[in-house]
Amino acid sequence: MTGKIKVLNTFKFKTASEAETFRLAELFGEKIKSGQTISLKGMIGVGKTIFVKGLAKALKCDRSPISASFSLMKMYKGAKLKLNHFDLFRLEDDEAPYLGMEEYMGEDESVSVFEWGSPASYLYDRTELIELCFDLSGGDNRTITVRAKGAKSKDLAGKVYQLWRKKKK
Ligand SMILES: Nc1ncnc2c1ncn2[C@@H]1O[C@H](COP(=O)(O)OP(=O)(O)OP(=O)(O)O)[C@@H](O)[C@H]1O
Ligand SMILES: [Mg+2]
Repeated sequence: MTGKIKVLNTFKFKTASEAETFRLAELFGEKIKSGQTISLKGMIGVGKTIFVKGLAKALKCDRSPISASFSLMKMYKGAKLKLNHFDLFRLEDDEAPYLGMEEYMGEDESVSVFEWGSPASYLYDRTELIELCFDLSGGDNRTITVRAKGAKSKDLAGKVYQLWRKKKK
């Protein structure tokens, strides 16, 4: 066989509770590498901040993140990596370039996670990006569609997907 291994870039996850979304985020946090950007999409109350909390737990951050809306960005110091948590809910697109976000994104020894990140999307081309789209699927169920751009991102999403499937068996 000479065929190349196909590298997938879209993965679907289903969670049935806050605790499961937290656990999924922990898996991402356990495998994530410096310089990664994660964009969390989905309506109000769908679970984006819960995901950030799981990520922070796995990174052994000094505090548990709270909604960053009022400060636009909060930084948490983990055991090895820093976690930059952006929440741009209140930001207009034309205000984004004045924040200096690129100073933080892709920085050595740090990862960045965005809620309501569309004003920053012009920066995404420059970093390894994983996008997670959260959809309500009845009750506490969520469907989370993960799209990965770049080799490191695909590797991360693929690893988490394998671990998640193993856990579900
Ligand atoms: N499967 C699930 N995953 C995540 N959260 C869930 C799930 N089922 C129920 N929930 C609940 O949904 C809420 C999610 O709140 P969270 O603050 O994470 O939303 P958010 O997407 O960050 O909202 P916002 O856009 O306002 O920042 C919590 O109250 C949580 O308990
Ligand atoms: Mg939130």
